[in-house]
Amino acid sequence: MDCCRRAGLDLNPLDVTSDDDVRWLSCLVWPGEGDREQRLAGAIAAARRHPPVVHRSDLLTGLPALAAQAPADATLVVYHSAVLAYVTPGDRERFAATVRALPAVWLSSEGPGVVPGLPSPPYEGAPFVLGRDGHTPLALADGHGTWLHWLR
Ligand SMILES: C[S@@+](CC[C@H](N)C(=O)[O-])C[C@H]1O[C@@H](n2cnc3c(N)ncnc32)[C@H](O)[C@@H]1O
Repeated sequence: MDCCRRAGLDLNPLDVTSDDDVRWLSCLVWPGEGDREQRLAGAIAAARRHPPVVHRSDLLTGLPALAAQAPADATLVVYHSAVLAYVTPGDRERFAATVRALPAVWLSSEGPGVVPGLPSPPYEGAPFVLGRDGHTPLALADGHGTWLHWLR
């Protein structure tokens, strides 16, 4: 049953139905990374069954219009991972202000200290913090999904 709608945005969206794009994604798996290749294959197979809509857009400018397309009676969830480190601290602040102005649940998965206002629990070697609404750390995680440690 189709219970929800998903849409994303990226400066350079990749197409899971394109063999070239899938080959490129496979090239990004570093040698000796355990079962990451299998997880990627599983994710690609799942995404090919239900290809996501991903718009070519900048997170600073594209989010409000995309969020406005969500059904009015739906819970809007804004989720992002491994992207805010690529923009300046000032743009991270502007993005956080944009998300906070939306009627949304905000889930972030970024490096410690990257999401403005989200505390980073001390934990040696944790590359990612899963956060809610820009203020509550929920879990520490490996950036490539190998492990996740819930904090609450
Ligand atoms: C390390 S990849 C992470 C991809 C994906 N979010 C994930 O977690 O697997 C970083 C992505 O951020 C995108 N990106 C970088 N700056 C962006 C911006 N200003 N607006 C939208 N996407 C951006 C890049 O095109 C790239 O796809």
